[in-house]
Amino acid sequence: MEMYDNENTVKKSFDTSHLPEEQIQAQWAEFIELKKVITEIYAAKQSPLSILDIGIGNARIARHLSGVKDMWDMIGQYDGTDNAMPCIDISNEVIRSLNIQDKVTVHFFDAINLNEWKRKYDLVITTWFTAGNFYPDDFPFETYKDSGIKLDLTENKKFQSIFFNAYQLLNDGGEVVIGACYIDNDNTRKKQEDFYAKIGMSVITSKDDSFTATKERFWSQRFTKEKLYHYLSFVPKEKIVFTPLDTYHYAMQVRIKK
Ligand SMILES: C[S@@+](CC[C@H](N)C(=O)[O-])C[C@H]1O[C@@H](n2cnc3c(N)ncnc32)[C@H](O)[C@@H]1O
Repeated sequence: MEMYDNENTVKKSFDTSHLPEEQIQAQWAEFIELKKVITEIYAAKQSPLSILDIGIGNARIARHLSGVKDMWDMIGQYDGTDNAMPCIDISNEVIRSLNIQDKVTVHFFDAINLNEWKRKYDLVITTWFTAGNFYPDDFPFETYKDSGIKLDLTENKKFQSIFFNAYQLLNDGGEVVIGACYIDNDNTRKKQEDFYAKIGMSVITSKDDSFTATKERFWSQRFTKEKLYHYLSFVPKEKIVFTPLDTYHYAMQVRIKK
């Protein structure tokens, strides 16, 4: 059972009327930064880009990009993947209703298998905190709260393997972009905890964890620059660029250039 397999949870977490203001603002902040990245790569390449969107959700990014002709003309092909079938279904509905199936295709596919993916891209994106959803397969949701054991995320094999494989899919001049990830601090942790409580979930992590998880199997990691440099140590440091998405250390964009 994946985090987004429950249709009600999917509806609630994608429904902007349930989202705290900082989440909505992070979506727009990351989108604006992403438009700059697309424009920059397009200017260098001088032809429409190919994009892979890992964890496409409800095709939010494709929907907004396709709404602005100036942006959509810079994109030749947009592939999306998700490992939750309800997200594939919603995305397909959105794609049909916007009539963008000439460029956009979605695939039911777990990012952990990206080493099997056959195409190459100018841009591989994973937006709106999806990068923080890559949790160890054996995470004990049922017992974590009372076990007294703390999950040490000095390494996160799943995150490291997904981004290593994503990086191999880049064309020359391409980039992997983590659209938005949480910055690890107490203030952000409290905001995450409030958000999950607001959508009816029970938090099972504490202030000593660098991720927030819930009994309902939501799992969301916060990051520091140092941790990301370590997780992405296959990339030269100068190729990684961090952009804050707000003024209160909540979220940042990470560009990982080839
Ligand atoms: C926080 S939502 C973000 C949705 C969308 N990218 C957006 O920006 O609105 C995370 C999405 O990633 C998907 N996801 C999580 N883990 C995944 C994995 N291992 N492989 C593929 N998709 C995954 C979830 O099903 C969900 O649709």
